[in-house]
Amino acid sequence: MEPPSTNLSVREPVVLDCSPVPAGGVNTDEVLVEPYELPDPLVFENGAAVTRSNWGERRTEILNLFEDHVFGRTPEGELSAITEESETGTALDGAATRRQVRLTFSNNDRSIAIDVLIYVPSSVDGPVPVFLVPNFDGNHTIADDPDIVFSAGATRDRGGDAGPRGSKTGRFPLATILGRGYGLATFYSGDADPDIDDGFANGVHHLYYSDAQTTPEPYEWGTIGAWAWGCSRVLDHLGTEQAVDDDRVIVGGHSRLGKTALWAAAQDKRFAAVFSNNSGCTGAALSRRRFGENVAVINTLFPHWFCRNYRCYGNDEAALPVDQHQLIALVAPRPVHIASASEDGWADPLGEFLAAREASHVYELLGAGGLEREDFPSPGEVSLGPISYHLRDGEHALAEFDWVQYLDFADNHVR
Ligand code: GCU
Repeated sequence: MEPPSTNLSVREPVVLDCSPVPAGGVNTDEVLVEPYELPDPLVFENGAAVTRSNWGERRTEILNLFEDHVFGRTPEGELSAITEESETGTALDGAATRRQVRLTFSNNDRSIAIDVLIYVPSSVDGPVPVFLVPNFDGNHTIADDPDIVFSAGATRDRGGDAGPRGSKTGRFPLATILGRGYGLATFYSGDADPDIDDGFANGVHHLYYSDAQTTPEPYEWGTIGAWAWGCSRVLDHLGTEQAVDDDRVIVGGHSRLGKTALWAAAQDKRFAAVFSNNSGCTGAALSRRRFGENVAVINTLFPHWFCRNYRCYGNDEAALPVDQHQLIALVAPRPVHIASASEDGWADPLGEFLAAREASHVYELLGAGGLEREDFPSPGEVSLGPISYHLRDGEHALAEFDWVQYLDFADNHVR
């Protein structure tokens, strides 16, 4: 049997008709996980076998399924864009150069601005590899530094009070990252689209609407799609920064932004690698396990994150044409690091590990190796293969321990 044609230009809209189910119970007992069968990344939808030479077509097929049924299609086409420098200075007692730029995108009589905060180590000659890690709470929260431009978007999204400077320094151990010779770029995810179910009133969606459109179609992007789009626009900008090696940008994120990082790297092959920290449901965790947060729950709590079609799979994960090991596989053969925390049952650590293991089949087909262990690790254990995995002891968080593993992973696979 021949692989199917995957010509993007002839894709039909996919509009599912269902009554979304409300959030029901949540299982956190491993004994109650029911048997499930995963869709095979190495078999085309029409049953044809995937080989190394036709993986590109299967990749497109899987990507299209994630677009139409999970995250929604990201519109194509460049927006009118302006880049303004906000500030350049030194930070970390001279150990780093800090750059801040504002990227403004316009169309349809609307505009949005993404403030990008970039650090590069002063001690390194030449372009450096950079971690691009968006933040939830505003750029001013990642370090207690009065020179960081307050995120205006965070002020808007939090009723006028964007919270104190430096409240999230624990998630961004700058001295550790820069001391290892890497740069860090970040932006407030709400600059691309606020994390509010407000009918997409303030984000990038409006800029791409066609005539008379007022909301995304059921198969079009939600907020996570917009955040991933923001990562790609920041990567465009990093390509203009002389101190940055844009062939070695590792996109990463924690939790909802860990879901985003995987989706960004799946869509945009320019990202050299990805880390996804405690990303859970619709991130790295297998949906069919229905352990911890599930599809009905996530669509009830965060209806704006995904495309509307995704709501049809609440309490019906078996009907999903994809599962999350295939999202990881879309990154192949580029290096990917998945991490869980031992007390983070909501994100299903075992489901994250199993997805990483299942994605290995694609990496192996492409000759890239894969996850280098079969058994679920004990807390504190780290496996640094082309697919890396670690289980940190403790709660849902992006901690210094996690960063040290991501830096080791980058040393091994990106540097
Ligand atoms: C909630 C949500 C998760 C998400 C997390 C986060 O717990 O249910 O899906 O990953 O928030 O982003 O912190």
